[in-house]
Amino acid sequence: MKNRSDGFKDDSQRLRSRELYMKFAKCLTVSAIFLVDPFTMLRVCADEPRSNTASATDLIYEAFFKRKSLAGQIYDLEELEPPFQTSSKFPTRGDSYQRAVTALDRFLSTSVGGVGEDPVRRAVLQRDLWAVFCTLAGSVEPRRSVFNDQVFVTGLEDVGDTDQSYRTERRVLQKKLIKVMRQIALTAAEVQSLPDNVSDAIRSSAFPRQFNPDMPTRGFLPSDLFEANSGWVAYRDVSRGDGLVAPSHTRFTNGRSFFQIFLKLPGGQQATLGFLKNFGGRSQEGVKFPAGTSALLLQRMVVIGSDGLPKITPITEKIKIRHFPDGENAQAFSWILHRKELFANRRGGLHEVKEEEKSLFSFETNETKVDYLEMTGRPDVPNTLDTCVKCHNDIAGSGYHTIRSLFGPRYATPDIQPTTAKESGENALKWLKKTYSWGLLQGMWE
Ligand code: HEC
Repeated sequence: MKNRSDGFKDDSQRLRSRELYMKFAKCLTVSAIFLVDPFTMLRVCADEPRSNTASATDLIYEAFFKRKSLAGQIYDLEELEPPFQTSSKFPTRGDSYQRAVTALDRFLSTSVGGVGEDPVRRAVLQRDLWAVFCTLAGSVEPRRSVFNDQVFVTGLEDVGDTDQSYRTERRVLQKKLIKVMRQIALTAAEVQSLPDNVSDAIRSSAFPRQFNPDMPTRGFLPSDLFEANSGWVAYRDVSRGDGLVAPSHTRFTNGRSFFQIFLKLPGGQQATLGFLKNFGGRSQEGVKFPAGTSALLLQRMVVIGSDGLPKITPITEKIKIRHFPDGENAQAFSWILHRKELFANRRGGLHEVKEEEKSLFSFETNETKVDYLEMTGRPDVPNTLDTCVKCHNDIAGSGYHTIRSLFGPRYATPDIQPTTAKESGENALKWLKKTYSWGLLQGMWE
């Protein structure tokens, strides 16, 4: 069934949403009075029992994506990753574990758990449950090898969950997660039918299409990103054996998302190709990015199709841009997928990250995967947009020196070549299929 443009299937859903909104407004008022952090909203009414009309899908989100910190604050933020880590107590112990089991059982006892037929909602729910599954199954770490008594990072490896406690609870949850994921899996045709939400966001005219020097902190979404010969060139380091374009991001997401990196010099296609062609081999002495150069990182959603194989979807989960107005110093912009906006087809579901926004579980603020909610004291994380400088300028200089993908370990210049979405997509899925968590998933999917 096709959803109406407001994203609700029927009047009862619309009514429930109004009720929830009223509750939310009440919470907001209270939290404004006892104002805490912008990112941990103190919602005194959060423990109210859910109305009986809550769908099984709602209960799943409540069980896995809302949490209480040790200080009793509710953490409930639109994020791509679940708000816990592999070794967190939250998913495998006590009431929170029971709630998760009950929510999954409730979903499995209904036909489609309230998610309906809509491929977009099914895709989003499946990617979210896959994220939970993978987090329970361990993490990906740099693979270190020793040659001549020296330690080198030679790739990535999924270290699995063999050393993790509460294995029985992990497996109980994982088996149920897989059953739900299988039930809502998309056919290949449905995957193709998913929206290209970046193009939708650009068409919505909600964001400027180019950088405006008079408003340098205003993010822009380039309308020509996917146009042939537009000057946006996707590239990769061909000296990497695993073919990954964005190894740090792939590691963080266990390969559940697909990444592309683009560079655009103001001189257009030939200028960008020329820069990349000469990059590794030439002396970098005196080389500068021309003013107006941009680098862009695109993160796409991957789902598991009804044939049990991973498929890259047209849905973008995140875009990050670093634009160099003077060729040296970057302005940073970031957009992240907001589920409800996507369902309602507003601005392609892309939310521009604002100056004061924080997150406790994103790549930017928590690459080392700490569970701040199981620590005492207030987490001291920077604003998301303040992290960009830290990571990109920590090695050397300015301008192209801060483009992380142009340099390998120890700041070496690797062999950079233009690539295509097809080539890097195939490499990304090949890498994913060799991970521990994919093997575990396959075993349970059959
Ligand atoms: C924890 C470190 C870290 C933080 C924080 C970080 N990045 Fe990056 N970024 C990287 C790495 C490493 C790469 C290279 C790709 C990879 O290995 O995944 C990268 C790649 C990129 C690229 C592609 C071009 C390039 O430099 O390779 C863009 C654009 C980018 N990041 C933008 C941002 C923006 C905008 C922010 C802030 C919102 C940000 N990054 C925060 C580590 C970081």
